[in-house]
Amino acid sequence: MAQIIDGKIISAQIKEELKQKVAERKRTQGTEICLAVIQVGSDPASTVYVGNKKKACAYIGIASLAYELPEETTQEELLELIHELNDNDKVHGILVQLPLPGQINENAVIRAIDPKKDVDGFHLQSVGALCIGQSGFVSCTPAGIIQLLKRSGIEIAGKECVVVGRSNIVGKPMALLLLRENATVTVAHSKTKDLREVTGRADILVVAVGRPKMITREYVKEGAVVIDVGIHRDENNKLCGDVDYDDVAPICSAITPVPGGVGPMTIAMLMHNCVEAGTVR
Ligand code: GUN
Repeated sequence: MAQIIDGKIISAQIKEELKQKVAERKRTQGTEICLAVIQVGSDPASTVYVGNKKKACAYIGIASLAYELPEETTQEELLELIHELNDNDKVHGILVQLPLPGQINENAVIRAIDPKKDVDGFHLQSVGALCIGQSGFVSCTPAGIIQLLKRSGIEIAGKECVVVGRSNIVGKPMALLLLRENATVTVAHSKTKDLREVTGRADILVVAVGRPKMITREYVKEGAVVIDVGIHRDENNKLCGDVDYDDVAPICSAITPVPGGVGPMTIAMLMHNCVEAGTVR
């Protein structure tokens, strides 16, 4: 039977470690780490995500500044706020919740964030640094997946890793991180020919396609490690991932459940990045 990779336990361990680090910093330096969280508009999913980020900050002992801007905020107004936060030495991290309303160019906003405060790891400089093996912030979900693998005792070096999905936030940085860990990496996507043949080669298969239960056992090599980034509601309104868990779990060596696998790791790694942002200088 497959090892179930428990993201709730591993994220709790990471948050505990960070909490101690933050307390130690407060004791020795007497200063607080501060994350500015900006939400434009009131998309319900974004409100939940932002709320969870603020709660995690409070738990770890990081101060958070919340900016709830109206839906009709202009790009210039948002950029002005980012410039102010860039210049504010008391603010260590800046997070602009995506998606943004249509009148605002997301790329322009991400580019405006000081890379030293880019705790999402979305800035061109952060992505470029990851690409050429220099230090910088790493996108939280793929960074969390590396932690899930390492803390579950799963060796990455030398393994055939297949990432399904090529988004800027998950697929591409995931491939770069696995490469940094000395895996042999293939990125598959919607135009890949014979996807089953490609995924069937994977020792470690990371799925971020955004299609409920798409990956059945026909796509998976026996004994593979399967990491599921998706989160959806199935026909019975139950949470499910991109992987058909009940079908795949019996044939793999380890698998992440949905919920409770990759999901909790994203916020844990955001907190990790905030602590780094507050520690670097
Ligand atoms: N929207 C969905 N996921 C994320 C994330 O990780 N960071 C930001 N800023 N917005 C998101």
